[in-house]
Amino acid sequence: MNQRRRKIKAPRNYYYRVHEERYRSILGSGASFRDKGMQSYVARAWQEFKAFSGLATGSKGLESGCGTGINTINISLEGFDMLGLDISSTAIKKASTLAEEKGSDARFEVGDMFETRFPEASFDFIVNIWTLHVVGEQQMRDRHLRECSRILKSGGWFFLHNESSERDILDPEEEIIIEEVDKWNIPEHTKTFTKANGKEVQVSFPAHMPEGLSGRRSLREHHEELNRAGFKILKSWEEIMKPSLEVQGNRIMVAFVRKV
Ligand SMILES: C[S@@+](CC[C@H](N)C(=O)[O-])C[C@H]1O[C@@H](n2cnc3c(N)ncnc32)[C@H](O)[C@@H]1O
Repeated sequence: MNQRRRKIKAPRNYYYRVHEERYRSILGSGASFRDKGMQSYVARAWQEFKAFSGLATGSKGLESGCGTGINTINISLEGFDMLGLDISSTAIKKASTLAEEKGSDARFEVGDMFETRFPEASFDFIVNIWTLHVVGEQQMRDRHLRECSRILKSGGWFFLHNESSERDILDPEEEIIIEEVDKWNIPEHTKTFTKANGKEVQVSFPAHMPEGLSGRRSLREHHEELNRAGFKILKSWEEIMKPSLEVQGNRIMVAFVRKV
């Protein structure tokens, strides 16, 4: 097929810079950030996954892209041996403090989910909560999923909870070429957060990725990329997450997946 080519400029090393800067800005403002508990819709899907997979207490789990650690901590408090991995050292520092405050023995470390230091077959399960959707380049998503497959034990489980799209995102007639550039071209967002004292604070931080890329995929595209990485999808669905009356609904996908 003769594909059209679309070029997207991406700053070198932007995953580290974007996420580190986001956490520095948000946490540095004194905002309370994902420190209460797992979001209710994530918690619901996780409980269903736990029952479905029958994971034994004490199983060894990894949260890939754990951020400030609330999911890793909650899962560890349910009796699992958890490690949280994230590219942002600011997030990992916060996660370690939060674990101590909550009496969790989860461990945290800074690392790159595209290329981890873990030997093959290190984990019984991996969770990916709102992390695949920060990856727009299909080749990087494939690389991350292959890495998850490599470090999972045979028969290991994979739980995904990420933003999705009603329609396919990738156009088969288009080839996206990523051009690494030195110039910073990632747009800024401003959002209101609440501090522990109840006061509101406005924080500006970089968007997740360069314009023109999207980390969303349709459920069909999620199936395709998971299959490519050697996974079997045992259950998957989409739902509209509506955290509050003021917030617009957001489509998310949930998948219970196994390394075959
Ligand atoms: C939207 S946040 C979700 C955090 C967490 N899972 C949660 O639900 O609170 C996405 C996370 O992926 C992390 N991340 C992005 N690229 C990464 C990479 N290459 N390696 C490890 N973590 C990465 C970011 O630092 C960020 O914490």
